[in-house]
Amino acid sequence: MPMTMPQSNFDLIVIGAGPGGYTAAIRAAQLGLKVACVEREFLGGTCLNIGCIPSKALLDTSYRFYDLTHHLAHRGIKATNPTIDLPTVMTFKDDVVKKMTNGVGYLFRKNKIEHLIGQARILSPGNVEVKSASGAATYSTKNILIATGSAPIELPKIPFDGKNILSSTQGLSLPEIPKRLIVIGGGYIGVELGSVWNRLGSEVLVLEFLPGILPPSDREMATALQKSLEKQGMKFRFNTSADTAVASNGKVKVNYHSGSETGPETGVEEADKVLIAVGRKPVTDGLGLTEAGVQQDHRGFVMVSPHYATRVPGIYAIGDVIGGAMLAHKAEEEGVAAVEIMAGKAGHVNYKACPAVVYTHPELAQVGMTEEEAAARGPIKIGKFPFTANGRARGMDDVEGFVKVIGDAKTDRLLGVHVLGADASTMIAEAAMAIEFAASVEDIGRAFHAHPTLPEAMREAALAANHLARQM
Ligand code: FAD
Ligand code: NAI
Repeated sequence: MPMTMPQSNFDLIVIGAGPGGYTAAIRAAQLGLKVACVEREFLGGTCLNIGCIPSKALLDTSYRFYDLTHHLAHRGIKATNPTIDLPTVMTFKDDVVKKMTNGVGYLFRKNKIEHLIGQARILSPGNVEVKSASGAATYSTKNILIATGSAPIELPKIPFDGKNILSSTQGLSLPEIPKRLIVIGGGYIGVELGSVWNRLGSEVLVLEFLPGILPPSDREMATALQKSLEKQGMKFRFNTSADTAVASNGKVKVNYHSGSETGPETGVEEADKVLIAVGRKPVTDGLGLTEAGVQQDHRGFVMVSPHYATRVPGIYAIGDVIGGAMLAHKAEEEGVAAVEIMAGKAGHVNYKACPAVVYTHPELAQVGMTEEEAAARGPIKIGKFPFTANGRARGMDDVEGFVKVIGDAKTDRLLGVHVLGADASTMIAEAAMAIEFAASVEDIGRAFHAHPTLPEAMREAALAANHLARQM
C-alpha cells in the first residue's frame, strides 16, 4: 500500500468516534483547535451503534408490548391478541441508530472536524497513520487522544459463533425470538438484554458467577430488582460458571458448575441461543501503543495520569479504553476534561457524581456510594420511601420499587442515592446534581418537588433519613 508524506498539521487527532471521542473532538473544536477524528467502523462508536441506543430502543419496544399484554386490561385498555413483528421491531431500532449516527456526522461538519475514515496507528508522538481501502496516509498533530473504547470479552471455551453463541452485538439483532435463551453473566447487559427477550416471549435463564446480579450495585437495591425480574419470568442461577457449550442441530448445550450450600454441582442446560455478557475489554489492536511507549495495565487498559496523559508527552487517553465505569457519559466527561486540559484550562471529572442506570423495568439508578461503601467509611443515616405511597406512581399503576437516600450521620452530607422505580433514570439526575453541589440530605428534603410526581419519593426518602417523613 503506498505511503504518503505527512498531511495537514492538526492540533489534535482523536482516535475513535464513540461518545468519548466525538464529544472530545467537538469540545476541542469549540476551543479553537484544528481537529481530526479517525474512525474505522462507525460514527458514534459502541454506544450509538451497538450499545446504549439500540438496546434502549429494544427495551422500550419490548416493555410497551409487555405492558400491553400484562398490565393494561384492568385499566380498561383491551387489545385482542397483540403480536410482535420482529423485523419491524429491528427496523425501528436500526432507524433510531441511523438518525443518531447521522447526527454525529452533522456535528462534525458543523464544527469543522475532519473525519478521517480508517484504522489509526500511532507512528510516533505527533504522527498518526490512517489506513483504509483507498490507501494509507500519515497525519501530523500536536496532540493525540486515544478513545478506542471496548469490545465484548469472549470466553475461551465458549467462543462466539454468531449463530447460537452470541455477543451483545448479535443479541441486539436476532432474526427470531428464541424459545429459550441462556445468558451468561448477570451484569448490565445480561439483565437488560435478558429483559428484552423475556418480555418478547423467550424463556430466559441467567447464569451468574457471583451470588447476585449487578455486582457493583447496592446489594439491597440489586436484590429487589432481581426479585422483580423473577416475577416477570426471568430465572437466575447464582454462584454458577459456564464451562463449555456445544452447538448442534440449532440448539446449544451449556455445561456449568455451581457452588451451592450442599457443595459443588455440575449440570447441563439447553437453549436455542446463548448470550455471553461477562464484561468488556479495552480495544487497542493495531494502535502501535507498545512501539510508541504508551503503558497498559495487565488487563490491557491504557494507563493515564489524573489529567488523562499517558507517560508519552502529547498522547492522552479517555473512555472505556482507560477502564473504570464503562459508561458513555463517563467517556464524554473525560473527553471534555482531557481536551480542556490540553487547551490549558482546568478540565475535571467528579466521578463521585457519575450516575449509573440499569434500564430494566423497574429501572435501577444510582449515584454516589452504595450502602456498603458508605457504611465502611463511617456512621451513616438512611431514609427510604416506597412508590406504593407515591400518588403519581399509583396513578400510573407502576408502584414497584423505592428510593434510598444515604447521608453522613454526623454532617448530613448526601453520600448516595438509589432509585428502583418506573422512571429512575430521570429521577437520578436530581440526585447527581445534588451530589455535584455537595448538598446535604436536608437540602433535598427542603427543596420544592411538584405534586404529584415520582421525584416526591426522593424528597420523602431524604426527609425520612432525618426522621421528618410526612407521608409514611
Ligand atoms: P466506544 O463507544 O467503544 O468507541 C470507540 C470507537 O473507536 C469505535 O467506534 C471503534 O470503531 C473506534 N476505534 C477503535 N480502534 C480504532 C482504531 N485503531 N482506529 C480508528 N478507530 C478505532 N453506557 C451507558 O452509559 N448507558 C447505556 O445505556 C449503555 N448501554 C450499553 C449497552 C450495550 C449493549 C453495550 C455493549 C454498552 C452499553 N454502554 C452503555 C456502554 C457504552 O456503550 C460505552 O461505555 C461507551 O460507548 C464508551 O465510549 P468510548 O468513546 O470510550 O468508546
Ligand atoms: P458486567 O461487568 O456488567 O457484568 C458481567 C457479569 O458477568 C458479572 O456479574 C460477572 O460476575 C459475570 N461473569 C463473569 N464471568 C462469568 C462466567 N464465566 N460465568 C458466569 N458469570 C460470569 O458486564 P456486561 O454486562 O458484559 O456489560 C459490560 C459493561 O457495559 C458494563 O459493565 C457497563 O459498564 C456497560 N453497560 C452499561 C449499560 C448501562 O449503562 N445501562 C448497559 C449495558 C452495558
